[in-house]
Amino acid sequence: MSKDVTLEDIVSLAKRRGFVFQSSEIYGGLAGFYDYGPLGVELVNNIKALWWQAMVREHDNIFGLDSAIIQNPKLWEASGHVAGFTDPLVDCKSCGARHRADHLAGTDSTDIKELTKLLANKACPNCGKKTLMKPRFYNMMMKTWVGPVEDDSAVAYLRPETAGPMYTNYENVRETMRAKLPFGIAQIGKAFRNEISPRDFVFRVRELEQMEMQYFINPADDKKEYENWRKFAWEFLIKRLGIAESELQWHEHDKNERAHYAAAAHDIYFKFPQGFKELWGTHNRTDFDLSNHMKASGKDMQYFDEETKKRFTPYVVESSVGVGRMLMAVLTSAYTEDEQNGEKRIFLKLPAHLAPIKVAVFPLLKNKPELIKKAREVYVMLKKEYGNVMFDDNGNIGKRYRRQDEIGTPYCVTIDFDTLKDATVTLRNRDTTKQNRITINNLHKSIVL
Ligand code: GAP
Repeated sequence: MSKDVTLEDIVSLAKRRGFVFQSSEIYGGLAGFYDYGPLGVELVNNIKALWWQAMVREHDNIFGLDSAIIQNPKLWEASGHVAGFTDPLVDCKSCGARHRADHLAGTDSTDIKELTKLLANKACPNCGKKTLMKPRFYNMMMKTWVGPVEDDSAVAYLRPETAGPMYTNYENVRETMRAKLPFGIAQIGKAFRNEISPRDFVFRVRELEQMEMQYFINPADDKKEYENWRKFAWEFLIKRLGIAESELQWHEHDKNERAHYAAAAHDIYFKFPQGFKELWGTHNRTDFDLSNHMKASGKDMQYFDEETKKRFTPYVVESSVGVGRMLMAVLTSAYTEDEQNGEKRIFLKLPAHLAPIKVAVFPLLKNKPELIKKAREVYVMLKKEYGNVMFDDNGNIGKRYRRQDEIGTPYCVTIDFDTLKDATVTLRNRDTTKQNRITINNLHKSIVL
């Protein structure tokens, strides 16, 4: 039986089982920053590997990149981020609290006039007084200084999206890969945003990780390619991550909602515990980025089409998704509760290829050296084959099953006294909780990942 998953369910499981911790927790944490624990890093790596496989390895015209987080600040001036990467902010005159004006107004619009009207009679959620000031824009770029002198000439920015360096490397990749349009550049990496109100666990954070792909195309093909990349995102979520179609929705940005670079934008919304919210964006960035970088750098990045003998600036269709939001979507979608022998059971119904631990191996009893020895042998054998295998001899078998259920381990193997006689083990399935007696040699036939 599934239930409506709450944010508290996800946060508590993530903490309890080592997926996600508040960063610098012993010092009270820091809003908008999280650390991924032993199981979180495995799950995140599995998600990233799946995306890289589908995006880069399965396309012969998409190439990988891993760029520096800090680039020449001129990049972010040309991209419009230094001037325009803003969110609407509203201050409270009485208590000094700062809020995202659009969130407080309950709208997707970032139009200041509209926000001013909508907030006219609103009370500050912090102090309850109706003393909100006029909303204004606030820049989210995180700044640092490069080199020993902390003056204006040394200011640099932590990248706010991974996209920027993919445009500045457009020519490098095109030339070295002898690529013809259409082709794409993809990268997975950290991005930083000084969000006004980070919230909802890893949904809105200040240090995030993105998986992005910029597809360089002939402008004449923009509608077709835009539809193709929307379809790619939708199918990836359903077919590779096992998310149900009923948990997804399309959301088209109107003019007031679109980022400064986008001519069209469609988000896939996922049914997060806090409601349907943005997970994955597809954007038509037109020639906005390449044109601006050409102007600012003086470098020609136009494309010469050998067939038509025409020269033009490519358009870009971008596919962009946050790793943390994807982890949250996967956890929410997989979170399941049922009843086993009158007891509530929580388990993660993760697709086996995403599970952080593939198989857990248990000796039935802890204090029997011959059982431990045999269990260790099976553990080593399975570890060679499946990599992430866990050995657990702690507590009764029921408790050990529950622990594995909560982290989504699809299979548990128990070694008992019969194993020593006839080389059979009990293989238990996470979803059905059914147990089968099979020989050690046949385990690989029943473990399907
Ligand atoms: N390059 C385009 C771009 O960055 P975006 O809509 O600002 O577009 C893309 O971000 C994706 O990155 C979002 O759909 C979301 O999954 C993720 N994302 C954006 N801001 C985030 C934040 N503060 N915390 C977590 N994830 C975020």
